[in-house]
Amino acid sequence: MLKLLTAPVSIMVQYSLPMVPGPDKINWEARVNGRMVSFPIDSNAVLLDILRDKGGSLGTKRGCDMGTCGCCSVIIDGTPKLSCLVLAQEAKGCEITTVEGLSSGHYLHPIQQTFADCGGSQCGFCTPGFLVVSAALLEENPSPTTEEIKTAIEGNLCRCTGYQQIVDAIAKASEILVSGSSVEDSTSPKSDPHPGFSGE
Ligand code: FES
Ligand code: FES
Repeated sequence: MLKLLTAPVSIMVQYSLPMVPGPDKINWEARVNGRMVSFPIDSNAVLLDILRDKGGSLGTKRGCDMGTCGCCSVIIDGTPKLSCLVLAQEAKGCEITTVEGLSSGHYLHPIQQTFADCGGSQCGFCTPGFLVVSAALLEENPSPTTEEIKTAIEGNLCRCTGYQQIVDAIAKASEILVSGSSVEDSTSPKSDPHPGFSGE
């Protein structure tokens, strides 16, 4: 009986897997929201993780982690990409814009202002991805048709607002951009999202 119990143990030891070496370290640098950043990363690191853990962009959200929701969208050299599907290595040396890089000082990007004005954001988890993709669309095509807007955001999922407010927000941002009018200073009391609330 004792012999029967010990035999499988010796087999397990004999066939235990060898240690798999970890990924190489590489030095990674890129321009993130206009600022050069550089740090060592694992060679197989995913861009989303690097931006969130090291690049200071917690606005870039992890939704599905498999390329189906659009929450993790960032702009890489002018093109919106899903950062959960991009190896950081592939974006080495690139110009990367996350949602944090859309505003200019105290001035929101028009698409940020119109999302607020039109009610394009409810829980906000999907919002950074929509903002980034919309900003990229408006950069390339400042006056998109409704169909072009819908096509641009077809890879982004929102589970709570309904899409009409989002499409409206993009169309309104387009009007602002085309007219050349500017968005109000976001530190102005008039842009206070909770007017009359003192916070006490
Ligand atoms: S987290 Fe990247 S597409 Fe959903
Ligand atoms: S605002 Fe909630 S999922 Fe889009």
